[in-house]
Amino acid sequence: MPFRLDHKTALITGGASGIGEAASRIFTEAGARVIIADIDEKRAEALAAQLPGSRVLAGDISSEDAVRTMFTGLDQLDILINNAGIGLVGGILETDLAGWDRVFKVNVTGMFLVTRAAMPLLLASHGSIVNLASVAGLVGVKKRFAYCATKGAVVAMTRQLALDYPTEIRVNCICPGTVDSPFVEGYLEKYHKHEKEKVRAELNQRQPIGRLGKPSEIANMALYLCSEEAGFVNGSVLCIDGGWTAA
Ligand SMILES: NC(=O)c1ccc[n+]([C@@H]2O[C@H](COP(=O)([O-])OP(=O)(O)OC[C@H]3O[C@@H](n4cnc5c(N)ncnc54)[C@H](O)[C@@H]3O)[C@@H](O)[C@H]2O)c1
Repeated sequence: MPFRLDHKTALITGGASGIGEAASRIFTEAGARVIIADIDEKRAEALAAQLPGSRVLAGDISSEDAVRTMFTGLDQLDILINNAGIGLVGGILETDLAGWDRVFKVNVTGMFLVTRAAMPLLLASHGSIVNLASVAGLVGVKKRFAYCATKGAVVAMTRQLALDYPTEIRVNCICPGTVDSPFVEGYLEKYHKHEKEKVRAELNQRQPIGRLGKPSEIANMALYLCSEEAGFVNGSVLCIDGGWTAA
């Protein structure tokens, strides 16, 4: 069977919901011991109860202290999926500093803190990192000024790390189009409560394939990137977006 992760330990930030939840499930099925690192402890524990060999590290990845605590006592790590992220809607004139700081703190600073904490273990295991960016890091998306900026930073961090450690670890980045997850549901509920179906149809049409991605479709690409079969894939930025960025 290709794409096995037997005897590997995988830490998945934001592993309790959406794309991260799908990765937690799929990586467990592939034989990995999964560590669900999430700020939502209740949801993470409920998922861990379903996944043999998994466990929870609850905490906020944007806090240096919380990340230090998460990594205390961790002695093996082969895979890091930097998936936790939040959104922010608005063009530049609607973006206040507090919102800008919040989204950068989770999507960029959080990824930096977790990756830095994981590096000694990943160097020891010749491990693999997968970062969740977005098409928003590659092309402009209307009314997503700060979010686009954070995801551009994720792409840049991926390429930079691949250059500093080209033989020691592999680090790649996935850029999904819109994926049907609680992230999108939350956005519809907050900004389009009374026209959800209309906006959902617009989101479908934004992608030439005419539908949203499924969390499992993104998680399976992460599985491939962490497997031995992807041994030559490094520093790559891979789109999985129903054709969005082909236009
Ligand atoms: N859903 C999409 O359309 C889409 C598209 C492109 C990229 N992405 C990216 O994929 C990633 C996952 O998105 P999703 O749709 O699965 O989101 P989601 O909201 O369903 O899940 C995100 C998870 O991250 C956790 N989290 C949030 N902030 C955290 C923090 N500070 N510390 C620890 N955990 C935290 C949440 O509790 C949640 O479990 C994000 O980085 C997102 O930007 C999503």
